Amino acid sequence: MTAFRVAVLPGDGIGPEVTRAAMSVLSAACAVDGVRLETSEHAIGGAAVRSLGSPLPAGTLAACQGADAVFLGAVGDPAFENEPRERKPETGLLALRRGLGVFANIRPARVLPGLENLGPLKPEVAAGLDVVIVRELLGGLYFGEPRGFDRAAGRAVNSLVYTKDEVVRIAEVAFRIAEGRRGLVTSVDKANVLETSVLWRETVIEVGKRFPSVRLEHQYVDSCAMALVLTPAHFDVVLTENLFGDILSDEAGALVGSLGLLPSASLGAGPGLFEPVHGSAPALAGRDVANPVGAILSAALLAREGLSLEGVARRIEGAVTRALSGGRTADLAGGGNAVSASRFTANVLECLEPALTSRESRSGGC
Ligand code: NAD
Ligand code: IPM
Ligand code: MN
Repeated sequence: MTAFRVAVLPGDGIGPEVTRAAMSVLSAACAVDGVRLETSEHAIGGAAVRSLGSPLPAGTLAACQGADAVFLGAVGDPAFENEPRERKPETGLLALRRGLGVFANIRPARVLPGLENLGPLKPEVAAGLDVVIVRELLGGLYFGEPRGFDRAAGRAVNSLVYTKDEVVRIAEVAFRIAEGRRGLVTSVDKANVLETSVLWRETVIEVGKRFPSVRLEHQYVDSCAMALVLTPAHFDVVLTENLFGDILSDEAGALVGSLGLLPSASLGAGPGLFEPVHGSAPALAGRDVANPVGAILSAALLAREGLSLEGVARRIEGAVTRALSGGRTADLAGGGNAVSASRFTANVLECLEPALTSRESRSGGC
């Protein structure tokens, strides 16, 4: 039996610890289903600048391009804050996304039934929050030219550029996802001010005509940010450009109770890139408190979208849901008793296959 090759990039801060948790759960879930995984670790971000002088060493990119799927923990290290762009950890992540051609960033956010009281919303408002943010990942301000910082002149520039083709391909992804869900796409733009948004809106309307079973609506990004808090259950699929999607997905993290819960999948024509939505959270690193759920659920997305292993994905997602009802990390404990991140991960592992664990040795509610 051939093994699936997964390139694993732990990165910085809490990246390595959540990656360890996610990979242990992924390997265990694959083992239950008799699936073989071959993992290889590679440097990225600040860790890679330290060891190899670049935030995306050539060997890391080549290994990712040759893998079946890529898992990333997080990048970002305050030590590099004042370094030039080519030595910033984040530059490595952006170069990786571009190198893999992953233009579609899928960020699901859901309030799990029974856990509606974990976040800042009233439980009756939070109930039913189940949204997928479809974020364009290779365009907009992140990559537009010209860009630059003329320190002497006291002037800096970034360019917000989109082509019609870039909008068509991401819109198609959003409509396809909506077809398999509740059939609503909310396209988010700033068409009252930005030409790129006018192109965005016209193009999304055109693409939408090919998906008659999906209802399309448009919201300005400022208004959408408010509506997400006031009526989160309204949303099904939110389709938006790179920077708006970055901002709205952290907002979604807050709404479900913790940014540490959210997974993501970044897809293109080649291997997909799977990473939690959160960053390297330097203040939490090394303390065994960082919530590994976003990373573990990213591993589930890796199984589903990256390796077409639906059974493994469901097994992981089910185990996380069960483990969450048994004990939670500090970000979700609301000041009450929290379990450590490693205890929580052990609970997820137990919940993968409760039948194999004796009732007496179980502690995570499974
Ligand atoms: P962050 O996501 O690291 O943290 C934001 C807040 O969420 C903090 O309060 C943090 O403690 C909390 N948080 C994040 N992950 C958590 C988890 N797993 N469990 C519990 N709480 C969690 O964002 P930031 O502080 O703005 O950025 C830190 C660094 O991470 C920066 O260098 C930034 O560029 C980088 N970053 C990287 C990625 C990525 O690698 N994909 C994403 C976002 C930010
Ligand atoms: C994210 C992060 C990245 C982004 C940074 C670290 C480059 O915030 O994945 O959400 O802005 O895309
Ligand atoms: Mn972000």
